[in-house]
Formats: sequence, structure tokens, C-alpha cells
Amino acid sequence: MENQKDPVVEALQRVVFRLLRLVIVLSILIVLIPLFVLNSAAIIGFFKSFGQEDLSPQLIDSTAILTTESTETSMYWTPPSLTLIKEDKLLDEVIYGKELIMHTAYYLGPKGTIAQQTNGLNCQNCHLNAGTKVFGNNYGSVASTYPKMRARSGKMESIEKRVNDCFERSLNGKALNVKSKEMKAIVAYLKFIGKDVKKGEKATGSGLKEIAFLDRPADPTKGKIVYENQCASCHQSNGEGTKDEHGREFIYPALWGTESFNDAAGLYRLTNMARYVKYNMPFGVSHESPTLSDADAWDVSAYVISMPRPHKSVPKDWPDKSKKPMDHPFGPYADNFSEQQHKFGPYQLMQKK
Ligand code: HEC
Ligand code: HEC
Repeated sequence: MENQKDPVVEALQRVVFRLLRLVIVLSILIVLIPLFVLNSAAIIGFFKSFGQEDLSPQLIDSTAILTTESTETSMYWTPPSLTLIKEDKLLDEVIYGKELIMHTAYYLGPKGTIAQQTNGLNCQNCHLNAGTKVFGNNYGSVASTYPKMRARSGKMESIEKRVNDCFERSLNGKALNVKSKEMKAIVAYLKFIGKDVKKGEKATGSGLKEIAFLDRPADPTKGKIVYENQCASCHQSNGEGTKDEHGREFIYPALWGTESFNDAAGLYRLTNMARYVKYNMPFGVSHESPTLSDADAWDVSAYVISMPRPHKSVPKDWPDKSKKPMDHPFGPYADNFSEQQHKFGPYQLMQKK
């Protein structure tokens, strides 16, 4: 039969078609593989960017400062946007105040550009996101509750006095002149971000979140193990943290040692430390996503506060001993519990009625 195909030709055709298909597949791969390899960083970065926080410290950049407000929308207090400020002079002052909270050491630390009067911590190291993070020790209630009577001093305290308390204790430094441009800017910032909270009321989610008490003393020995596993990668095994390339600001702040807060600071009290750590550390967690158990948070806090740090003598603190908080680590006390139990707990039986 004439139009029947020659089996040899047919076999040849099949081979040619297979070769053609192979060439097409290969050339597609040759084009695609280098595209993937060259852009792998970008592609991996794209997927990683979901749900990850940027751990790099913020740069000194006053144009970005307007846009770094918390984006949390919830039942909790959020600060008003700085862009609402229409008056230029006030805007500059509030921006400078925020800058000082975020980069205190750059301006006032051991290598400060304006003065050298603090230990190198930034306010923001403990008052997270420029003092706006929910339960990140935020400033939501400052404008609404000061001036107020404080038992620690036994006096009415203004915002300026409270700010200087942190300068002298948390920043182990010298108080700011209350008339200085820096103090005015910090106060302007605190007043602006708290302006929508009703006078006398507390903002929801301000300060620190409560944590349940343990029925045993917090244990520094157990805490050391937690520290090595969960904290030392950033704060270092020696607790001294790490600094930026100029040695001006901490990237990971010192938790103890000569460059950390002194023993008169609020964070030196175990319950404050445990509340701060449980809902804010390791860096990146929030009150909605804590990763440490309560016991680990208490124990690691006990470890941090048992390490050496600067001492500040404050004989005038707590003129009324019965008002001392139960976790105040130094006697004398108005009750019969030991100094050790006040420092490390257990606290259930100590709670004031
Ligand atoms: C080492 C951590 C730490 C640093 C650094 C720090 N603070 Fe504080 N600050 C605290 C703690 C903890 C409290 C709450 C203390 C308490 O309730 O006993 C607090 C309380 C405050 C309050 C009162 C808040 C309120 O609602 O009553 C103000 C205002 C304040 N700090 C301002 C500052 C400023 C300004 C700076 C920087 C110059 C600063 N703090 C640096 C730990 C710190
Ligand atoms: C991924 C790095 C990282 C890890 C891990 C980490 N921290 Fe932090 N920590 C930070 C950073 C960064 C800050 C300052 C936050 C800021 O300025 O915004 C900080 C601040 C602190 C502060 C307040 C500032 C000071 O100097 O006292 C304490 C206390 C603290 N961390 C304790 C801990 C503890 C305890 C752990 C382990 C459970 C821990 N951190 C794990 C990065 C880390």
C-alpha cells in the first residue's frame, strides 16, 4: 500500500519529536533556574516577611518618626498620630521628645552628643515602641494621672519629677534640668500621646500586665538555665548586651553590670521584672503571644535581679513603711516577712488586703 507510512520514517519522526520536546523543556529550565538563583534572597525574604518583626535598631531619622505609631487596633489604648499636630513649634517639640525617648543614649549617654549624664540605656528599652506598646510599660496613663501622690516619695509628683526618677534610677544618671529643652520636649511628647485619655482615668493596656504568683520563691538557679537558653543570644551570657558600631547605643541593652539600671529602679522589683519579661521577651512577643511559662518568667527575672549592678542609696524612699510594695527588696518593713521573701516571694500571704 502506497500511503501506508514507512515504519522506519515513523520511528524517526517519533525520535525527532522527543528530541524537540526535550530541547523545549531544557531551554525553559535554563531560563528559569538562574532567575530563581539570582532572586532567591528576594523570594525567601518575601515569604519570611510574613509575621516577622524587624530586630534591627531604629535609625535616627526624623522623617520616619511620624509614621512609627502602633498599628494595633483593638480595645487597648493607642496613641494619636503625630500628624494631627498642626502647630509647627509643638510638632517639632513632640518629635524631639519622641526622639529622646527612642535614642536617649545618643544624646545623653556616655558618648552623648548633648551631654553625658546617663548609663547608655534608652527610655525605649523598657518603655517599648517609644512608650506606646500595649503592656510594654507604655505611657498611656501619664498625662491623665499626673501630678499624683506617690508613696515612694510620699509627695505629689509632677511628670517632670517622675521622668527624672527614671533618669536617676533606670538610667543610673543625673536628673535633667526641668527647664531644659530636653525635659520640655519629653513632657510635651508624654502629654500629646496621652491627651485623649480622660483625666484621672487609666488607659487600657498601659503599664505592665499582671502575672499569677508562684507558690514557691522564684529561683535564680533555675532562672540561669532559662537565661542561657532564651536570653543570652541577645543580651549575652555576661548580661552586658551589645552596642552599635560607634559604641553609642545598645543594640541589646545591658540587663546587669555597671552599664545597667541601679538597684533603686522600678525594674529591680521582681514583680515588675516578671511582668515586663513575660509579655515582652524574648523580644518580639506581646501580651497576646507570650512564649515563657509563668514559672520561667519569675525564675529568669530572679536570676537577672540577683546579678551585680550599680547601687543607689535612697534613704528618703517610702517614708511610710506600710506603703512599701511587697516585692521591695530592701527593709525595714512594716511586717515580719524576711527581706529574702520580699525579694523573691512567695507573695500570696504577703498581699495587702
Ligand atoms: C530599666 C528600665 C527603664 C528605663 C530605661 C526607663 N524606665 Fe521609666 N519606668 C520603668 C518602670 C519599670 C516603670 C514603672 C515603675 C513602677 O511602677 O514602679 C517606669 C515608669 C515610668 C513613668 C511613669 C509611668 C506611669 O504610668 O506612672 C514615666 C513617666 C517614665 N518611666 C519615664 C521614663 C523616661 C522618660 C525614661 C528615659 C529617660 C525612662 N522612663 C527610662 C522602667 C524604665
Ligand atoms: C532577640 C533578641 C532578644 C532576646 C532573645 C531577649 N531580649 Fe530582652 N531585649 C531585647 C531588646 C532589643 C531590648 C530593647 C527593646 C527596645 O529598645 O525596643 C530588650 C530589653 C530587655 C529588658 C529591658 C532593658 C534592660 O536593659 O533591662 C529586659 C529586662 C530584658 N530585655 C530581658 C530579657 C530576658 C529576661 C530575656 C530572656 C527571657 C530576653 N530579654 C530575651 C532583645 C532580646
